[in-house]
Amino acid sequence: MSDMMKRRSAEAAADHVKSGMKLGIGTGSTAEQFVRVLAEKISDGLEIIGVPTSERTAALCRELGVPLTTLDETPHLDLTVDGADEIGPDLALVKGGGGALLREKIVAAASDEMIVIADETKIVGTLGTFPLPIEVMPFGLGATELAIRSAAGNIGLTGTLALRQDAAGQNFMTDGGHFILDASFGRIPDPEALALELSAIPGVVEHGLFIDLARLAVVAGADGIQTLTR
Ligand code: A5P
Repeated sequence: MSDMMKRRSAEAAADHVKSGMKLGIGTGSTAEQFVRVLAEKISDGLEIIGVPTSERTAALCRELGVPLTTLDETPHLDLTVDGADEIGPDLALVKGGGGALLREKIVAAASDEMIVIADETKIVGTLGTFPLPIEVMPFGLGATELAIRSAAGNIGLTGTLALRQDAAGQNFMTDGGHFILDASFGRIPDPEALALELSAIPGVVEHGLFIDLARLAVVAGADGIQTLTR
């Protein structure tokens, strides 16, 4: 997706932001555009306060002068705006390509509404082409991998689990100090069933299936913005 498309999607989402709102601020290259749009509106007088979903987003907000708070100080938010790796039927999402899925889900769940910003290539008929990020405890990794395979098998899914690496070739570490397994299960026809299976595994901290969280997606394409609702 071009930066122009990301920017358009971010601008469309920013139209939903009103002065006085408490915002969840997502992570990723599209969310970065949203932070930039927000910063411009703030310098024009918009008054908001935001909870960032990653250290990366927090750093950009500080750099651009977007006021920040925490969920401890501000436990209830009006709106979260965040990107997605896949947008499926009923606005079920795959997220976590940027490694921030745990904070993203905590922040989205603390918000009255979540708006997804993306380009049209993120829309899929069935989730699963993009590997599903699963955030896991480093302790007991082997046992957790085995449990994930078994859980997926319970609903007829098989595939590979890849331990995510960072640019230096080390195990990728999330902001919460966990690892990420990227699961290539292929098509996921029943995301709810997989979400329940994964959530029952003790070593799984969180998974990248976002179900019943987003109410609206503003999706940029060659023909403009399309709005998806559920
Ligand atoms: C971050 O952990 C992810 O959930 C991102 O929201 C997702 O990967 C989308 O990122 P882009 O906007 O960079 O495609």
